[in-house]
Amino acid sequence: MSGERIFIGAAWPYANGEVHVGHIAGCYLGADIFARYQRMKGNEVLMVSGSDQHGTPITVTAEKEGVSPEDIAERYHEMNAKAMERLGISFDLYTKTHTEHHEKVVQEFFLDLLDKGLIDRKSTEEAYCPKCERFLPDRYVEGTCPHCGYEHARGDQCDECGKTLDPKDLINPRCKLCGTTPIFKETEHFFLRLSALQDDLMKFIEEKGHLWRPGVLKFTKNWLESGLHDRAITRDISWGIPVPVEGFEDKRIYVWFEAVIGYYSASRLWAKEKGGDWEKFWKEDAKHYYFMGKDNIPFHTIIWPAMLIGRGMKTPDHVVANNYLRFSGQQFSKSRGITLGINEVLDAYDVSALRYYLTSIMPENHDTDFDWQDFAARNNSELLAKYGNFIHRVISFTADKFGEVPPADPDEKDEEFLKKIEGYLNEVQEHLERTEMKDGLSSMMKIAMAGNRYMMERAPWKELKSDKERAGTTMNVLLRVVKALAIASYPFIPHAAEKTWDYLGMEGSIEEHGFEGALEPLETGKKMEKHSPMFSKIVIEEEKQPLEGLDLRVGRVEEVKEHPDADKLYVLRVNLGKETRQLVAGLKKYYSPEELNGKKIIVVANLEPAKLRGQLSQGMLLAADHDERVACLTTDVEPGTQVDGTAPAKKLKYQKFAENIIMVGTIRDGKFIGDKEYEALFPGEIEDYEGPAGAIIRDSRAVVLSAGGKIIAPDKEMPDGAKVR
Ligand code: MF3
Ligand code: ZN
Repeated sequence: MSGERIFIGAAWPYANGEVHVGHIAGCYLGADIFARYQRMKGNEVLMVSGSDQHGTPITVTAEKEGVSPEDIAERYHEMNAKAMERLGISFDLYTKTHTEHHEKVVQEFFLDLLDKGLIDRKSTEEAYCPKCERFLPDRYVEGTCPHCGYEHARGDQCDECGKTLDPKDLINPRCKLCGTTPIFKETEHFFLRLSALQDDLMKFIEEKGHLWRPGVLKFTKNWLESGLHDRAITRDISWGIPVPVEGFEDKRIYVWFEAVIGYYSASRLWAKEKGGDWEKFWKEDAKHYYFMGKDNIPFHTIIWPAMLIGRGMKTPDHVVANNYLRFSGQQFSKSRGITLGINEVLDAYDVSALRYYLTSIMPENHDTDFDWQDFAARNNSELLAKYGNFIHRVISFTADKFGEVPPADPDEKDEEFLKKIEGYLNEVQEHLERTEMKDGLSSMMKIAMAGNRYMMERAPWKELKSDKERAGTTMNVLLRVVKALAIASYPFIPHAAEKTWDYLGMEGSIEEHGFEGALEPLETGKKMEKHSPMFSKIVIEEEKQPLEGLDLRVGRVEEVKEHPDADKLYVLRVNLGKETRQLVAGLKKYYSPEELNGKKIIVVANLEPAKLRGQLSQGMLLAADHDERVACLTTDVEPGTQVDGTAPAKKLKYQKFAENIIMVGTIRDGKFIGDKEYEALFPGEIEDYEGPAGAIIRDSRAVVLSAGGKIIAPDKEMPDGAKVR
């Protein structure tokens, strides 16, 4: 037994929503696979994480829902702790940051750095909204990222390029609450003196950075080389950990500064609650692994190490960051109300099927897509047809024909086969050693595939007729491989592996057993029983979009120009989130440019582009008209949001589009009152609503228009039944 001490920190998810498949594939599953593997090696593992319960991510959500930050922080902590448990993420402790214990450790940490001169108190100018009369920390201010041009960068970080920011860096900053341009107002804060730690950090990266994935190292080096600036670590906010200094009663410690301390405070809490020895995990000779999504890199390769170096504490050895998992197509977008929250997915599907699939698409080197059809296919043709089938065939055949583990007299071919399996077992371990989970999974599956092939080749059902002993040897050898497969698959799909272990009647746990001796023969004469197959087939019905064939998206008018050759037309520049389009619209009689500018309109995005009096129009906006009155359909969500029930679709000629019956009307008691009464169908997350709305008539029902959880309605009063053109 090697007996190393391995500390594993998995980034703490904000308690402002349910963890979804993206979080799991990007962070927790990898951490868990690695932890299980390390325990199998006989190493001592301490794996901790918890809910990140402070900061503006929580207060923004609380304000939106009209509840207290504490409510949000607790609600989602419960939910996520349960999700982690159901997934089998084997944390030694999954705690939270809103506890007295954490607060105490953080304040100690803060005061020590202050004492060491690594925290400075400075007067500074911070973003302040004159209209809301409040400071705008972090998520309360948005603007354009100076590094990458992303338009919705937040005060402390740009989600697009991952760079950390200062609200002052933002180009064209806006108050998130009211859109007002903030002023910069004087206030006092504490700063972490990153500049004083620059050289130490350089040394740290040189020593350890070569162990990291190239992307992580490159990002960190770039940041270091551009020179570190001191960073404010307190905020004008009332939710969070109090600053333990007089005169700072109205301020709180910046959420990132305290959340990373969670790794350390949780280690100590684990010791306190479970009676372990935390100190040995924080000695120099322990190995520290951190798992996270790529947006968390700077906090784990610069800020947290700086804080640790400042106190002379153990720094990270490996920082394992993944890219993002996306949702395929539109049907999984949050705005359609189909979330991939873990609890919901696990209500419907087997945990091993989910873990298997998420590992197979783990975004280790680039972004990947979650796709339900792919999920079903992988379950059916790999987990069930290869892995499950192999285990099931071997055990049932043995139980049926021998009732116990038969004795063996292996020949050269058997030995060769076992050698091959040994090679795969090594491959699995080598990959896991290097935190290559996806490749590890493929190597594990090679065992199942080779096993299936060997059974076909040997055909024990034939051997049985001519030479029962030979058939016994085949099954004996195959049972050894089933056992090896249970061991090799344990880090990835522990629930299934343990079941197999049980079927084989093995004593003790797989974790205690480990990889060593995986292929050793089973005890001859041990009873073997039949079991029903472990997995079932997954069939996922393709969900049909109620507005199939239409691609409607929300756009924001960015510019209004008069058409040079037509006096009724405007030429608009419309922002559709990821793209900008030019639209020609006959609105000049009804709207002034000022009225249109900034308006969120609905764009038919899959119309064939056309020239209108010489000007290109790449789509059309929806507006209702009646008796010389015209009203644009509008709603207040981010530009680019897909209208519920629609999806990117193939190009449409205008004549074809015009066959759609679109109108405005009023919704009451689940009915849409337009030119007549229709049953109202809500394709999005809205369940009931009363008031004006637009709708498209399909199969004599009114599909109500909505996007991102908001109804789409005319911007002026219009009579029910007014047609939209
Ligand atoms: N809550 C952060 C996020 O979801 C991660 C915090 S990681 C920690 O992006 F190290 F600070 F805990
Ligand atoms: Zn920005």
